[in-house]
Amino acid sequence: MVQLVEKLAAEQSLTHEELVRLIRDRDDATARLLAQKAADRRRGYYGDRVILRGLIEFTSFCKNDCYYCGLRRSNRKLSRYRLTGEQILAQCGKGYALGFRSFVLQGGEDPGYSPRSIAQVVSAIKDRWPDTAVTLSAGERSRDTYRLWRDAGADRYLLREETADRDHYGTLHPGDMSYENRIRCLYDLKELGYQVGCGFMVGSPGQGTEQIVRDLELIRLFQPHMVGIGPFIPQKDTPFAGEGTGSAGLTCYLLSIIRLLVPKAMIPATTALNTVHPQGRAWGLRSGANVCMPDLSPVQVRGQYAIYDRKLCTGLEAAEEVEALKEQIRSLGLLPDMGRGDHIDLR
Ligand code: 5AD
Repeated sequence: MVQLVEKLAAEQSLTHEELVRLIRDRDDATARLLAQKAADRRRGYYGDRVILRGLIEFTSFCKNDCYYCGLRRSNRKLSRYRLTGEQILAQCGKGYALGFRSFVLQGGEDPGYSPRSIAQVVSAIKDRWPDTAVTLSAGERSRDTYRLWRDAGADRYLLREETADRDHYGTLHPGDMSYENRIRCLYDLKELGYQVGCGFMVGSPGQGTEQIVRDLELIRLFQPHMVGIGPFIPQKDTPFAGEGTGSAGLTCYLLSIIRLLVPKAMIPATTALNTVHPQGRAWGLRSGANVCMPDLSPVQVRGQYAIYDRKLCTGLEAAEEVEALKEQIRSLGLLPDMGRGDHIDLR
């Protein structure tokens, strides 16, 4: 195992069989070694910096019906909300006053917004606060829509593949979605000049070592600028309500591996990780993550963005508490950074 870790750190890749072995035979000693190598590698590119972004969950409507997600259209139990452009701008204003210079606008695939209306929001943010970066995370769209948003000023785009195994993809999503289109989106986004983030859930139903290795191989091949992973957490009003929760330990182990596969990537310690483990954020940061995305949605809608059960949105997950979050980051020997997050050239 030590040799595998050394090789991964030296070559930024492993063969399929080596990745299988590294994951299948995971133990505490290897996890510690990986985390240490990953933290060293992060330091090499980012110093001690941890990038903070404000996350605005702007709509809980979604036209898709993904089996794992509480926002799926068949979930009639969820009371839905959609922020207006003005409300989104108001949240950016609050975030800006708190010091945030990087905003993430995330939402379901909501036909209630036209592509143009989202473009208008992005350009309004850029007009008012030209020194900020805007990340969009609004699902699968046409290349033209991605271009429209890019032209409006969007800098980054997050679209997790969820799984890089075509058959597994088919068990997580209904038949009107396809793995091919997902991957098409990722390549379109990259060609349009976005910094692109992909990623997957850890412990989703039907995921085994083989599926995880495929995700790692996709990451290695695609060379994303960002990678978001977090444990799967069942949501009570979805078909996967009775399934098990993903492991924090495996998530952190994979965070370390991903840091070594794509050393420059921006990798968040996600809210889901912190939801399944009380020390999730600290553990993720010690394992090689370098981004935190506290919730900057209006307080009154936070509980309604119920992609999974018990999702945290208070305490250090809340953007208003960013000073306390910074303090936690400092207590780990790291340096909170509220800038745009482009101090290293990711290309
Ligand atoms: N558990 C954990 N993560 C989930 N997501 C959606 N549903 C769940 C769940 N039940 C993740 C997906 C999506 C991101 C916004 O949230 O990976 O890309």
